[in-house]
Amino acid sequence: MKGNKLLIAPSLLSADFTRLAEEIAAVERAGADLIHVDVMDGHFVPNITVGPLIVKAARKATKLPLDVHLMIENPDRFIPDFARAGADIITIHVETSKNLDEDIELIKMNGAQPGVVVNPATPVESIFRVLDKVNMVLLMSVSPGFAGQKFMPEVLEKIRKLREKITNSPHLNEGNNMPPDIEVDGGITPETAKLVIKAGANVLVAGSSIFYSKDYAAAIKGLRG
Ligand code: DX5
Ligand code: ZN
Repeated sequence: MKGNKLLIAPSLLSADFTRLAEEIAAVERAGADLIHVDVMDGHFVPNITVGPLIVKAARKATKLPLDVHLMIENPDRFIPDFARAGADIITIHVETSKNLDEDIELIKMNGAQPGVVVNPATPVESIFRVLDKVNMVLLMSVSPGFAGQKFMPEVLEKIRKLREKITNSPHLNEGNNMPPDIEVDGGITPETAKLVIKAGANVLVAGSSIFYSKDYAAAIKGLRG
C-alpha cells in the first residue's frame, strides 16, 4: 500500500487493554500508519488473545487501517467475521491455511486486503506462487504466540530473497500493479528495524518497543531510523 513506503504498525498485544481506545488514539497521534491486531486461538499458537469483538471495538477507536494477523486454525471459518468487524487487511499463515488460494479469495470477497504470513521455520519460497494475489507478505521474526521475544536474525535472508523475487517479477510491478508490502513482526527495536529495512522490508510491526516506552512518538520515530 501507499507506494511501498515505510509503515509502522503498533501491535495492540502490548497495549493496556483497560484503556484500549486511548492507547489506539495515542499511537495514532504518535504517527502510527496501521494498527496491528494479533488473533491467537490456543491451538495454532500456545496463547489465546482476542477475537472479532475487539476488532470491532478497535474499528470505532481509529481511522487507521486495521491489520489483523490471524494465528488460528481453520482461518476460513472466521475470515468473514473479522472482515465484518472492520479488518482492512487480513493475514493468514501458510502453515495453517488448508487452501491458500481459496482463503485469499475469501478475504477479497469479504472486502478486505489479503496477506500471507510465513513462520521462522517455513521457507519463504512457499508463498512465491501467491505473490500476485496478496497485498502483503508478513515474515515472522519470532515464533508466533507472545510479545517481547528476541528477534531472529535468520529472517534477514528471507526478506532479501523475497525483495529480490518481487523486484525481479515484472508482472508484480507493471501498470497499476502495486507489489506486495513486506512486513516483519517480532522483536522489532530501533536496532533490528535498521536491519530489516536494509534487507528490504517496508512494514514494521512493533509491540513492546512502542507500548512499553514512555514516549510513543519517539519510539515510532526511532523505528523509522
Ligand atoms: C507475536 C505477534 C507479534 C507481537 C510482537 O506472535 O505476532 O505481533 O505482538 O511483539 P514484539 O514487538 O514485542 O515482539
Ligand atoms: Zn503479529
